[in-house]
Amino acid sequence: MTHALTRRAALRLGLASFLATPFLLGGARAAQSGPPLPMPPLLEPDASGKIALRMARGRHSFMPSASIASAGINGPFLGPLVRVRNGTNVIFAVENALGEITTLHWHGLFAPSEQDGGPHNVIAPGAIWQPVIAINQPASFNWFHPHVHGETARQAHLGLAGLLAVTDGGDRERGLPSRHGIDDLPLILQDRRVLDGETPYTPDMMDVIHGFRGTHIAVNGAIGPVAPVPAGLVRLRFLNAANARNFHLRFADGRPMHVIASDGGFLAKPAETALLTIAPGERYEVLADFSDGTPVNLVTLPDDNGKFGMGMMDRMKAFASSLAADEAHVMAFAPDAGIAADLRALPGSLDDPGTADPAKAEKRRDFLFDERLAENMAAMMQGGQMGGGMMGGQMGGMDHSAHAGRAQGETGPAVHAMTSGMAMAIAGAPFDMGRIDVEARLGSDEIWTLSTQEMAHPFHIHGASFRVLTKNGKAPDIWETGWKDTVLVSGKAELLVRFNRPAAKEKPFMFHCHILEHEDAGMMGQFITA
Ligand code: C2O
Ligand code: CU
Ligand code: CU
Repeated sequence: MTHALTRRAALRLGLASFLATPFLLGGARAAQSGPPLPMPPLLEPDASGKIALRMARGRHSFMPSASIASAGINGPFLGPLVRVRNGTNVIFAVENALGEITTLHWHGLFAPSEQDGGPHNVIAPGAIWQPVIAINQPASFNWFHPHVHGETARQAHLGLAGLLAVTDGGDRERGLPSRHGIDDLPLILQDRRVLDGETPYTPDMMDVIHGFRGTHIAVNGAIGPVAPVPAGLVRLRFLNAANARNFHLRFADGRPMHVIASDGGFLAKPAETALLTIAPGERYEVLADFSDGTPVNLVTLPDDNGKFGMGMMDRMKAFASSLAADEAHVMAFAPDAGIAADLRALPGSLDDPGTADPAKAEKRRDFLFDERLAENMAAMMQGGQMGGGMMGGQMGGMDHSAHAGRAQGETGPAVHAMTSGMAMAIAGAPFDMGRIDVEARLGSDEIWTLSTQEMAHPFHIHGASFRVLTKNGKAPDIWETGWKDTVLVSGKAELLVRFNRPAAKEKPFMFHCHILEHEDAGMMGQFITA
């Protein structure tokens, strides 16, 4: 394992070129075989502008030999890729057929707070929620998922997540691949611990603290899939839809990724990197060049986040749940001469997001991702005794009657929080739906300084977009300099946040950690604009 430590050290030092040496990484391997890459179906508004989405339970097979209880949108697991045109009105009809309350949040969509689908926009079981949303934002790759406070992690993990692409019809002109499922591939990255049975999501209290990670990596709901691609430029739209895992993606043969867009839209021009970190909630669009016709694997480096020193029990747990291999296989790309390659040349320029001007900020605010470790350790010791041991997986003896619609044995962080008193914070105190933490002026820019303590946390804000000014005092990586709504904070990050969407008191917007266990445990705050 010495070389793994060396590699981690190298990562910390930012020596990306060091990573490309075959000696350390085992060089290029033959692409692995696997199931074909599933493609989320393309769904566009009908003639009347309507998009129907139905959230329901189902069963899903991550592998041919296994099947697990799941939930999905217009299908048993995950959802469609909804493509909407900028400048149009879209009438959503979101049916909740889950048998329990839910919400559907449009992560990345510019919508006023009453249409945002946050914790205040509850859809009752059997009800249909019909927000009419005027699409008014740059072309971008977004997504949607439930956001019921305390139940987000469990519901999202069941498979309730879909994709939402805003298009302006200009991709041809930009010289970008745009044939859905052919040379324009949405890739939903997740990890799973349980692949078989009735209870996919069984976090214990340690998982609430670290975030729930799995031992299997899934892309679009398949483990280690293979995507046939044209032998040319292919657009990969990455979404990290895992509850907690950070992905550190690289091609096994070290070929470059050309990042063309982040959460909020295009970059000024493609930015090249060999290693791309994507935190939960983040999106990056990448061009990959397969014109050499050689199959290649996509791999991810280990996610060390959350393995901080909390004593032996914790280390044992972290060790047991970590991926066995140094570097995990994500998927393979297999160039196929039978698929016509549309594009071979990288575009020279895209859409310039302009320079962020911190001088325009009206206010500065500081936030601390507060794990409340001392308090939670104390609560956990107590909860552990009550619940039958902290290493024992699920807590025993819980009253599930308050959680109608759940399968037998399903638990969520909310259950742990309620029964053990665990809580986390970002706004000075654990989340409270009745408390407004920030009032920002509509149309203003503010500088938000975010700090972490024990581990890195992905920050996400609804109803606002930001630019990353600095990370630990230094300029961020070039692909992090465009418009974003989610960013991984490890140490200190300074953001220039633009508040440009209305939120009244009754329906505030959220800002939170996108490790869903943390969000559910209260690492979330609320703001309004006035
Ligand atoms: Cu992706 Cu508040 O969420
Ligand atoms: Cu969001
Ligand atoms: Cu967090």
